[in-house]
Amino acid sequence: MSEATAPGKIILFGEHAVVYGRPAIAMPLSHLRAKAAITPTKAADIQLVAPQIQRQWALSNAPRNNPLALTVRLFMQRCGLRQLPPFTLTVNSDIPIASGMGSGAAITAAILRSLSDHFDQPHLLDKETLSEMVYEVEKVHHGTPSGIDNTVVTYERPLFFVRRLPHNLIETITVTQSLRFLIGMSGESSQTKRVVGDVRRRWQQEKPTFEKLFDACGRIALAARTAVEKGEVHNLGQLMDENHHYLDLMTVSSSKLNALTKAANDAGALGAKLSGAGRGGNMITLVQPETEQAVRQALLDTGAAAVYATTLQREVIFP
Ligand code: PMV
Repeated sequence: MSEATAPGKIILFGEHAVVYGRPAIAMPLSHLRAKAAITPTKAADIQLVAPQIQRQWALSNAPRNNPLALTVRLFMQRCGLRQLPPFTLTVNSDIPIASGMGSGAAITAAILRSLSDHFDQPHLLDKETLSEMVYEVEKVHHGTPSGIDNTVVTYERPLFFVRRLPHNLIETITVTQSLRFLIGMSGESSQTKRVVGDVRRRWQQEKPTFEKLFDACGRIALAARTAVEKGEVHNLGQLMDENHHYLDLMTVSSSKLNALTKAANDAGALGAKLSGAGRGGNMITLVQPETEQAVRQALLDTGAAAVYATTLQREVIFP
């Protein structure tokens, strides 16, 4: 049996603008993970099992776009294997689905890791190759993904990311002061592909306006990187508020997300913004130990379906 995992992720700055080549920052959610397990069987076919949604498919007749089947087929193709000995692939995840926490990318990465391990294909385990393969599967579901999700879930580091050709810019961010965030789930599910498609239509109709909005988000992400690297928490909070304002102007916020960000700030957070595609999904807020409890309560009182806490740990740098 081979088991592997991959973490969820959250975008801190620059969603949407990142699709148009502006910088963005994201971090892994290492305590929320997708898990894949491969158990050899004597059955006639490869079985794909997702117990949490009570679904099971045989690979040979799984729907064409089934993400688990797509991942197994991509693996076979990359290894030049036309057949695999039968096995059961079981997938479980702590990451809420359709909520902007990278659940799809994490599941794909966990499956590819378990397959590579089980069938002894270590060349597919290097981060760059794995990330590129996860991207292939993401494209089927997201249309034009920027590549930030697959990158963060495979590198599992806080990253500064710019989508560009021929290679994306991927830089690790050094965290000098631990940062504590709360993630508030709006309880409204959001389809990234639909929201990204809608932003694209609006961008085509109002290019100068949207280009300015994307530029502003790009500048914020750049400033935020410096703030994280210098431990300037107050500045970082303000940049989150500014980023939220521009996302709202892009029309990707919702009344619930606006209410949650306002409630967090009113309760003493240093800043708050929606995170991910928007129009539902989640929001993220920067807190301090003395305000964390009040902010959490304010989010719940404002109707957050759930609140998660996560810390971006300060790195100990050895000379
Ligand atoms: O909703 P999520 O977390 O999957 O994030 C989407 C982020 C976008 O910038 C809107 C799209 C992308 O591919 O980067």
